[in-house]
Amino acid sequence: MAGAKMTDEELMSHDASGMLGVLDAFPEQVSEALEIGMSDVALPDASGITDVTILGMGGSGISGDVASVLAPLYGARIPVLASKQYSAPAYLGPGSLVFAVSYSGNTAETLAGFAEARDRGARVVAVSSGGALSERCGVEGVPLFGIPGGLQPRASLGYLFVPIICALERMGLLSNAMRDLRGSLPVLESRRAQYSIASGIDDNPARRLARDLIGFLPVVYGVEGYLAVAALRWKCQFNEMAKIPAFHNYFPELNHNETVGWQNLREICSQAHVIALCEPGLPERLEKRIEVTLDLIGGSVAHTTRVFARGSNTIERLLDVFYFGDYASVYTALELGQDPTPVERIDELKKRLAG
Ligand code: PA5
Repeated sequence: MAGAKMTDEELMSHDASGMLGVLDAFPEQVSEALEIGMSDVALPDASGITDVTILGMGGSGISGDVASVLAPLYGARIPVLASKQYSAPAYLGPGSLVFAVSYSGNTAETLAGFAEARDRGARVVAVSSGGALSERCGVEGVPLFGIPGGLQPRASLGYLFVPIICALERMGLLSNAMRDLRGSLPVLESRRAQYSIASGIDDNPARRLARDLIGFLPVVYGVEGYLAVAALRWKCQFNEMAKIPAFHNYFPELNHNETVGWQNLREICSQAHVIALCEPGLPERLEKRIEVTLDLIGGSVAHTTRVFARGSNTIERLLDVFYFGDYASVYTALELGQDPTPVERIDELKKRLAG
C-alpha cells in the first residue's frame, strides 16, 4: 500500500493504537498541563538559585530543550540547560534547581541524574506519570508534578514541559510565559482543525508534506533558538512515529560543515528531502543563509521545502511548528502502513539492558 494514495479510511486503519486521536487532543493536554503546573505542589525555596538543569531522555528530554530555549525569552537571567546523560553536570550544587523529567519514571539515566543531584544538595523537582521516580519522590519528600499515564512520552509534550515553565514562573525566574501558554490554546485549536485528518488534503499541509516524503530521507534544518529544537523534535518524531532514519541540523552552524557534505555520494544525497523550518521575519543574516544554502544544495538533494512557523509570539510559533511535525510524522507512518505508536526497539533495548 505504501506509495499509493490512500483514502482516509485506509490511512486510519494503520493507526491501530489511535495516535491521531492523541494528537487531536493536544490543545486539551496543554490546558490540563497548565492546571497541573498551577496545582499546589510545594516548590523549593527560590532564593539564590544560580542555574537550572532539566534531566531527561528522548521524548521526556525534549521538554528540557524546550524550556531552555523559552526561558531566556521569558526573562530568565541564569542558565537553563537540558542534560541528557547518566551523569549530572559537574556544576550542580545547593544553588542549582533541577527538574528530573521521565514520563515512565523508570529511565535509568534520569534516575541516576536524580540521585546525583540529590546527593549534591540541589533543589530537585520531578515530572512523571509514575514508576521509580515518583516512588522516590514520595519517600524522599521531593516535589512531584504527577501527570496522566497511558500515553507515549513523545505524545505527552504538553504534560512534560508546561509544568516546568509554570514552576519556573511561580518561583519568580520567568514572567508572562503562562500567559502566552494560555493564549496559545485557541491557536492550537485552529491548527488542529487544519492538521487533523478531518481536514481535506488540499487544506492540510502536514498531510501533503507526508505524501511528498514517501521514499525520501527527511533532513530537517532549523535556525538557532526554538527552531533548532523543533528540527530535533521533527527528526525524532520521524524516527519514532514512522520508523525511518532522519537527520537534523540548524543554521548558522550547518553552513560551516554540512553544507559541503552534499557534494559527493550523489546517489545517497539524491534520496534526501531537506525541510527548512523557519518563521516569517527572520533576521536578514539568517534568511539569506537559508536562501543561499537551499540554492547551493538544491541540485544535490531530491527536494527542498520550507515550513514557516506561525503565531504572534514564540510560544505560539513553537507549538505550531511542533504540532505540524507531529502530524506530518504520523501521516508519514500511516502512508507507509506503519502503526505510529509502538516503539518496539526502544522497549526491547530497555528490556535487554535491564536483564
Ligand atoms: O519516546 C520514547 O519512548 C523514548 O524516547 C522515551 O521518552 C525515553 O526512552 C525516555 O523514557 P521516559 O520518557 O519514560 O523517561
